[in-house]
Amino acid sequence: MQKTRERLTKDGIRLYSPEDFAGMHAAGRLAAEILDALAPLVQPGTTTGALDAEIERRVNEAGAKSATIGYKGYQHASCISVNHVVCHGIPGAKVLKEGDILNIDVTVIVDGWFGDTSRMYVAGKLPRKAERLIQVTHDALMLGIETVRPGKTFGDIGHAIQSYVERNRMSVVRDFCGHGLGQVFHAPPNVLHYGRPGTGAVLEPGMFFTIEPMVNLGRPETKVLADDWTAVTRDKSLSAQFEHSIGVTENGCEIFTLSPEGRFHPTWANQT
Ligand code: MF3
Ligand code: CO
Ligand code: CO
Repeated sequence: MQKTRERLTKDGIRLYSPEDFAGMHAAGRLAAEILDALAPLVQPGTTTGALDAEIERRVNEAGAKSATIGYKGYQHASCISVNHVVCHGIPGAKVLKEGDILNIDVTVIVDGWFGDTSRMYVAGKLPRKAERLIQVTHDALMLGIETVRPGKTFGDIGHAIQSYVERNRMSVVRDFCGHGLGQVFHAPPNVLHYGRPGTGAVLEPGMFFTIEPMVNLGRPETKVLADDWTAVTRDKSLSAQFEHSIGVTENGCEIFTLSPEGRFHPTWANQT
């Protein structure tokens, strides 16, 4: 049987078929379920390595694969980014202490489909200024997602996120972006979290991509540490991030990585 020809836009963005949404929902759901299950484990005294081990165990238990293990030499089932770490924090011996905020980012492969999502957690009680940062970052992601429908552009998404964040006197990281995904981990386009309305590629039904804004309390600049992965804020200010994988439909979008238990935001994480 002949392989169905892939449809690409003039910008090289793959357009998936309506049947492909089911595969993404399955992958996205597993990633979100794993993040749900982690919420009660994030406590002062826990190591980021222990959280990662639990993620890897749950990926294997589900018969899925971790997309990050072996990716460009990365060896873990998650990235765990604490406080001023912007993204790509490497899980390990680091012990969480009271009031630490952290992003946990998981990407799984289910039947060849990639589900990529991250959210914020807190060890113990959420400090006041971290609470504002996390709320603004979460709301910026959701505003970006609400912008998505055919005819809008990637610049419209970036603008919605950037203008909201800056109105709240915080800054959007420029050095990392969202990405197309589907049957691959990272594909065109680069989904920038800043931009001007009406610029960039036009959204079409069947585009699958992530939106994953990183927001800093201080300045937007980052640097990568000597381990070649860990990205931190140059001014050491706190940073937060939320990520969903979504698919564009005829009149909006579907979110593949919604939390089945409604635990996407840290203040909802441990409610029963
Ligand atoms: N999940 C990250 C993203 O949102 C990518 C992590 S790649 C890794 O795109 F190798 F650092 F794990
Ligand atoms: Co991503
Ligand atoms: Co991710």
